[in-house]
Amino acid sequence: MNPVLRLDAVSKSIGGVHINRDVSLSLAPGERRALLGPNGAGKTTLMNLAAGVTRPTSGRIVLDGRDVTRMPVHRRARRGLARTFQITNLFPALTVAENLGIAVQAGSAHRFDALRPWSTARSVWARVDELLERGGLTRIKDVAVGELAYGEQRRLEIVAAVARPSSVVLLDEPGAGLTSEETEELLTLVFGLDPELAVMFIDHDVDLAFRMATRVTLLHQGEVVADGTPDVVRALPVLDESYLGVVHDA
Ligand SMILES: Nc1ncnc2c1ncn2[C@@H]1O[C@H](COP(=O)(O)OP(=O)(O)OP(=O)(O)O)[C@@H](O)[C@H]1O
Ligand SMILES: [Mg+2]
Repeated sequence: MNPVLRLDAVSKSIGGVHINRDVSLSLAPGERRALLGPNGAGKTTLMNLAAGVTRPTSGRIVLDGRDVTRMPVHRRARRGLARTFQITNLFPALTVAENLGIAVQAGSAHRFDALRPWSTARSVWARVDELLERGGLTRIKDVAVGELAYGEQRRLEIVAAVARPSSVVLLDEPGAGLTSEETEELLTLVFGLDPELAVMFIDHDVDLAFRMATRVTLLHQGEVVADGTPDVVRALPVLDESYLGVVHDA
């Protein structure tokens, strides 16, 4: 199966310091890849490179067969690459359904058509209903976002991220501030949204990541030190070594 996202020998250095070095990985449709590694391993930087927030110093990023290495975030998003928004990108005074309406609308073709106000566009609300249902948010659809519990906000944030049709979603610590049970629930929700959706996620709970992922990439000092199924990577001595910070240069 062709990968939906591929990083080809991607490196990033800032001020002469290598943050990521020669990272190659790919995401197949439906794959759930955990990006693991100790603090400062370069996980967030790699996600930002994949999303287009920053540009690599060298290497290539390919989305759906197309080179997007120099393509900005919003154009990658239009091509199906989603990532989580910060909570602050939700509108606290608006309801859950209204926030989703805005997220859906952001990707629709008649965004600036004054003759067809988005609030009455049926297709938008049909999609919102679908997202509410799949995201388990129907019960709270009329609640203002500012009134939601933190866990519910995280859930909405992720559903909003994939409001437009997406083939890949990048999640940097979706479980931050949540219990591991809540994080598991959140990832289960994402995986259930669409069986073809490729997901790459970062989480500090290594056990949880191994349980939820179909593939694991282990980063250490900006480099990939292991890549494989959870069973294979779990058995590698390099896993303990990298978390203890004692991996030596090859
Ligand atoms: N803009 C920058 N300028 C200089 N150094 C940076 C910059 N961004 C990140 N770094 C450094 O690069 C390294 C990797 O950072 P990054 O945030 O990608 O790690 P991480 O694996 O996400 O860590 P954490 O688990 O703590 O979130 C760190 O040493 C960090 O200090
Ligand atoms: Mg990080």
